[in-house]
Amino acid sequence: MIENNLLLRTIAKEKVERPPIWLMRQAGRILPEYRAIRSSLSGFVELVTTPDLAAEVTIQPVDILGVDAAIIFSDILVIPECMGLPYELIEKKGPFFPNTIKTKSDIDKLISGEAAAEKLTYVFDAVNITKKRLNNRVPLIGFSGAPWTLFAYMIEGQGSKTFSKAKAMLYKEPVLSHQLLSKITETIIAYLKLKIRAGVDVVQIFDSWAGMLDQNLYQEFCIPYLKNILAEVTSVPRIVFSKGAYFSMKEIHALKADVVGLDWTVQAYNYRKMFGDEQVVQGNLDPCQLYGQTDGLTKAINKMIKDFGGHHICNLGHGVYPDTPLDNVKHFIHTVKSFKYD
Ligand code: CP3
Repeated sequence: MIENNLLLRTIAKEKVERPPIWLMRQAGRILPEYRAIRSSLSGFVELVTTPDLAAEVTIQPVDILGVDAAIIFSDILVIPECMGLPYELIEKKGPFFPNTIKTKSDIDKLISGEAAAEKLTYVFDAVNITKKRLNNRVPLIGFSGAPWTLFAYMIEGQGSKTFSKAKAMLYKEPVLSHQLLSKITETIIAYLKLKIRAGVDVVQIFDSWAGMLDQNLYQEFCIPYLKNILAEVTSVPRIVFSKGAYFSMKEIHALKADVVGLDWTVQAYNYRKMFGDEQVVQGNLDPCQLYGQTDGLTKAINKMIKDFGGHHICNLGHGVYPDTPLDNVKHFIHTVKSFKYD
């Protein structure tokens, strides 16, 4: 039994005294204790592939910030890696893939499903070690990229303002695109199942580049694969976070994920008016609000909680930015923990 099970009780729609809080990208980025470990290593990939250290930085925000959940320290890019496309992380630039997918034969060469996912033993070991060390204090969240977001990196080879190469593939080669998305999806399903077997209590699917698409593309190239994942991965609660996908909100709602993640462009009041009070949601403070004054921050947090009015997991509307003042992060967490529903 998990001692602080506020997150799980909220997802189960039990009556709770306040919303739980955790922050996307809380593991790493903002804590000096993370940077100390990170700078002693050859790079990010070494940290991700060293289970003992990955576990340590996963637990740091629980110990130091007092969040209500841990998220395993890893990256969405381990999936392309296990399928046969290794990545590097270039300092101040971001992810880079020396090889990308261009042709049908590139897709045919990729390993997929369990054969690919089971290679990620360092992730499952990190989950195992983290669960032991957390000792049931808070739940542990596991995650994966969504099929489209991983597809985007595998075609593009790096981050992009437009993801125009990846989108061009959807328009020019729809059949090949579906083949690649299917292979990625099979791998995600196998990977999430193995992560759950290793001990994660909840999973989140990050569709970080959903907002690059439109309703038609999202309907054709994303929704069916998310549906597939949700149909297959059923033994723990599932959070779906499609960033920027306000145009497909209805279709995302219809997926009936246990939790829908919302970015800061969605207003709580409008969301509840459109979809009612029943859907458990997660979000959605603008990460940039954490650069602002404390009194404005306090007001925004309390307003967000009241406007969602329950069935709500407090979080940011996207990952916390690396240069966020740590005191404001602490103030965010403190304010949520001081809140009491009427
Ligand atoms: O939420 C957490 O704290 C768990 C750890 C986590 C990381 N990446 C660690 C990381 C999670 C959940 C991710 C997911 C991820 N990775 C996403 C989806 C979430 C989102 O933000 O939309 C995406 C798009 C990636 C791809 C990626 N990995 C990018 C673009 C970068 C470089 C930019 C950056 O600083 O995040 C990474 C590297 C990365 N992943 C870092 C961390 C802590 C920074 C590496 C470092 O220490 O230098």
